[in-house]
Amino acid sequence: MADGCGIRMERVCYSVGGRSILRDFDLSLDPGVNRTILGVSGVGKTTILKLLLGLLKPDSGRIIIEEEDIATLSEGGLALARKHISIVFQGGALFDSMTVGENVGYRMLEEGHLAEQEIDAIVREKLGFVGLEKAINLYPAELSGGMKKRVAIARALAADPEYIFFDEPTTGLDPIGVYNIQQLMLRLQGEGKTTLMVTHDMHTAFAVSDRFSFIHEAQLVFEGTKSELKESSIPAIREFFAPGKESLFRYVESEESA
Ligand SMILES: Nc1ncnc2c1ncn2[C@@H]1O[C@H](COP(=O)(O)OP(=O)(O)O)[C@@H](O)[C@H]1O
Ligand SMILES: [Mg+2]
Repeated sequence: MADGCGIRMERVCYSVGGRSILRDFDLSLDPGVNRTILGVSGVGKTTILKLLLGLLKPDSGRIIIEEEDIATLSEGGLALARKHISIVFQGGALFDSMTVGENVGYRMLEEGHLAEQEIDAIVREKLGFVGLEKAINLYPAELSGGMKKRVAIARALAADPEYIFFDEPTTGLDPIGVYNIQQLMLRLQGEGKTTLMVTHDMHTAFAVSDRFSFIHEAQLVFEGTKSELKESSIPAIREFFAPGKESLFRYVESEESA
């Protein structure tokens, strides 16, 4: 099992333009315990990932990566803490002007620690892992949505992180694409990586996660296992699983923002 101390958020508050996105939000990601954060679109899921990466700063509360409070770190220290983590962004965030191989290898090339042949070997290995070694010379525009996500996973793996964050990895994919992503996540977990996913795809969440956090109206309203989540009587969770009349056309401020 993976070692390390994990990642946590303690009583984190974050607001934008006076609007509270997170209120006293707690999260723990222990090595080897794969977690999904569930919640409706616009609730703040991507914001949580950005806070954990130090891309956003909380108004209050602590964010700890492997025993280091990231608020106290210098730029260099933050860069080191981030090395524990890779993120697969929602859209894949590939560079359109680079080939698949260049996308996977560019960070290693930029860091300048490895020779080109070593980088090429790692790029091929990671593309092999996601089943795309033959696409190495293609451009993102030539790939399907599912293939782009897989390239993004290969790129995330190139840095050999302990933790991999996934921002809605299955949104917009067909059933085969969804299945591929689920299988890749399970294989990564089998190799000792710890995954943190944010999504509203419950099917995938149940397929790949050990524990679940549910965020509703800026707060953590549930933390627990799959069976505890399924049996929860919390109204927001019941509605999420089985939207009914009370959900119809209910105004959600940022419904379209995901
Ligand atoms: N840069 C920003 N400026 C203003 N509001 C933002 C910004 N980014 C996100 N938001 C708002 O913060 C809320 C949470 O966004 P986000 O974390 O992207 O939600 P999710 O990922 O759950 O769909 C949304 O209501 C969104 O409108
Ligand atoms: Mg989002």
